Amino acid sequence: MRLSIIGTGYVGLVTGVGLADLGHNVVCIDIDKEKINKLKKGIMPIYEVGLKEIVDRNVKEGRLTFSTSIKEGIKDSEVVFIAVGTPQDEDGSADLQYVMKVAEDIGKDLNGYKVIVTKSTVPVGTSEKVKDTIIKQDAKAEFDVASNPEFLREGAAVKDFFTPDRIVIGVDNEKAKEVMKKVYAGIERTGKPILFTDIKSSEIIKYASNAMLATRISFVNMLSELCEKQGGDITQVSKGMGLDTRIGTRFLHAGIGYGGSCFPKDVKALIKTLKDNGCDNSILHSVDAVNSQQRKKFVDMITSNIDVKGKTIAIWGLAFKPKTDDMREAPSIDIIRSLMAKGAEIKAFDPVAEDNAKKIIEGIEYCSKPMEALEKADALVICTEWDEFRSIEFSDIKSRLSSPLIFDGRNIYDPILARKAGFRYLSIGR
Ligand SMILES: NC(=O)c1ccc[n+]([C@@H]2O[C@H](COP(=O)([O-])OP(=O)(O)OC[C@H]3O[C@@H](n4cnc5c(N)ncnc54)[C@H](O)[C@@H]3O)[C@@H](O)[C@H]2O)c1
Repeated sequence: MRLSIIGTGYVGLVTGVGLADLGHNVVCIDIDKEKINKLKKGIMPIYEVGLKEIVDRNVKEGRLTFSTSIKEGIKDSEVVFIAVGTPQDEDGSADLQYVMKVAEDIGKDLNGYKVIVTKSTVPVGTSEKVKDTIIKQDAKAEFDVASNPEFLREGAAVKDFFTPDRIVIGVDNEKAKEVMKKVYAGIERTGKPILFTDIKSSEIIKYASNAMLATRISFVNMLSELCEKQGGDITQVSKGMGLDTRIGTRFLHAGIGYGGSCFPKDVKALIKTLKDNGCDNSILHSVDAVNSQQRKKFVDMITSNIDVKGKTIAIWGLAFKPKTDDMREAPSIDIIRSLMAKGAEIKAFDPVAEDNAKKIIEGIEYCSKPMEALEKADALVICTEWDEFRSIEFSDIKSRLSSPLIFDGRNIYDPILARKAGFRYLSIGR
């Protein structure tokens, strides 16, 4: 099939290259000329495991091209995916201006039957608005709209494209359903379930899924405080809960809370949608509040154990989670800013997020190795649970720090071993 993806970010690029690898001819379109030029030269604009190899292969075999023109890019396409950003608006709702701008452009340049698919995370009712917007442009051809939310995890995005837990597709007629079946036939053959729903249910499924995962994180973070006050261990509590097959173990790790480009904004957008529809949103208000508090409480934990004024603090991990360079809404940003406001000097290391971090956090020293960040620092603060930090010898950490003090926001070390190694070791809920 001939497909195009408008918006070549984390979602658009991975989806585009994945669909090309399934055998389709794909054009990835973006208004960001620099991004498209980079991609044409084989330079990846984002860090994602396995992405470059698969982009290179599909470009070489002629199935994947890049363009800055919607008109050119969609002209031969049977299906057009909209995968532009839907950032948070001032009132918490999803800002749909990029989606609607793309819908206008599609409407103006529609030259034959196409299925227009919203892949961006959008509030219930948006696909209908996309449809109305396209019609308003006096579109010259027939079209259908569909909703196909994305569930990939940054850091495992390529793998998730090929082996998703499920693919959700919202359609309102058989013709669009048949087209979308063909798009994902290569994944369906591997036995992965494709769930066809009505369009509105599909839109709601995306927010419901992210909000549920965020709820689990905030739930366990809420209990971590009780563990701290009473002397319990949240990792044991999580394990004990998770062994119940009705609950399961995933997304039950206490820490400094969720960040990233999805959970924070999607929880807030669902809060707003529920409010606008006169529905109770109190659970999600609490989820959001617990998450914000978690960062503040971590800073309090640090500053009540060390007067950071004039001290050097080493930070390990800047990205909002491991295996990604994405800094959007990363807890490290708030934590570093708070420590700097209290007079701390910061030396930070992240395996891949440094370039993106530099655009957001200024006035700190970026180090190219974890050990470099520790040299003469007065404490180590762990903000992201990169695997490489887990295997570093305590003796190597201790020999570099001025004082043996670790604040572990991700519970990556065993507290007993850390204390045996001579550290004052403070973590979350243990
Ligand atoms: N990042 C994730 O892990 C993830 C996962 C699931 C869903 N989503 C959702 O997918 C959507 C995209 O997220 P992302 O992280 O890929 O965003 P992103 O910011 O990485 O990419 C969006 C891209 O769209 C481009 N764009 C904006 N307006 C355009 C236009 N008019 N024409 C062409 N291109 C345009 C931007 O230049 C940018 O490259 C969002 O709705 C997000 O909530 C993201």
